[in-house]
Amino acid sequence: MNGFVVRGIRADEWRLAKALRLEALKDSAADIAFLETYEDAVARPDSFWQERALGAGEAAGGVRQFVAEAAGGEWVGSVTVLVEEAGSVDWAGLPVERRQGHVVGVYVRPEWRGGEVTPGLFEAGVEWAWEVGLERVRLLVHPENLRAQGAYRKVGFVPSGVSVPVGEGFGDFSGEVEIEFVRERG
Ligand SMILES: CC(C)(COP(=O)(O)OP(=O)(O)OC[C@H]1O[C@@H](n2cnc3c(N)ncnc32)[C@H](O)[C@@H]1OP(=O)(O)O)[C@@H](O)C(=O)NCCC(=O)NCCS
Repeated sequence: MNGFVVRGIRADEWRLAKALRLEALKDSAADIAFLETYEDAVARPDSFWQERALGAGEAAGGVRQFVAEAAGGEWVGSVTVLVEEAGSVDWAGLPVERRQGHVVGVYVRPEWRGGEVTPGLFEAGVEWAWEVGLERVRLLVHPENLRAQGAYRKVGFVPSGVSVPVGEGFGDFSGEVEIEFVRERG
C-alpha cells in the first residue's frame, strides 16, 4: 500500500466526489452502509454533485468532506461531517440537543481497508469538528454492519444506546433502524 494524504475537498472536484460515491454504492455492503441506491444516485444531474461539492468545499461552514488521496491523485476513501445545531431537528425528525457533528458517507476502497486510511479520515473529520467548536461527533450505523462498527470503535466511537428509525423519504430504507455511535470531545 502506497502513501496517502487526507484533505478537505474543493468545490471543483465534484466529478471525483461523484465517482467515489457511485463506487461506494456498488460495494457489497452498500445495502447496509448507505441510505441511497446506486440507481437513484446515478440518475442525479451534474448540478446535484456540483452543489454537494460546493457545500462540502473549503469555503463552506456546515459541511466538510474529507478524502484520502493516494500518491497518484486517486481518491481512496472519504468521510463527510455535517454540523447539527442544538435546537434543530435532525434528518430523522428527532431533536438535536447539543451542537454536534454527524459523520456520513464513510467509505474506503477495499484494497485500502484495514490500514491507516480509515483512522486518518476520522482523525481529520473529528479534528475539524473540534476546531469548529462541536461538542461531540456522532454517526449512525446499521446493526449488521459489524465491520464498520469495529472500525468506529477503533477510532474512539462507542454506542450511545440510542436507536434511530429511518424516516420517510429514504425509499426501501425507511423503517429500518440504525444505531448511534458517539465520540465525546475529550
Ligand atoms: C466501514 C469501513 C470504512 C471500515 O474501514 P476498514 O478499514 O475496513 O476498517 P478496519 O478493517 O480497520 O476495522 C474493522 C474492524 O472490525 C473488525 N471486523 C471486521 N468484520 C467484522 C465482523 N463481521 N464482526 C466483528 N468485527 C469485525 C475487524 O477485524 C477490524 O478490527 P481489528 O482491526 O481490531 O481486527 C470500510 O470497511 C468500508 O468502506 N466499508 C464499506 C462501506 C461501509 O460499510 N461504510 C460504513 C457505513 S456506516
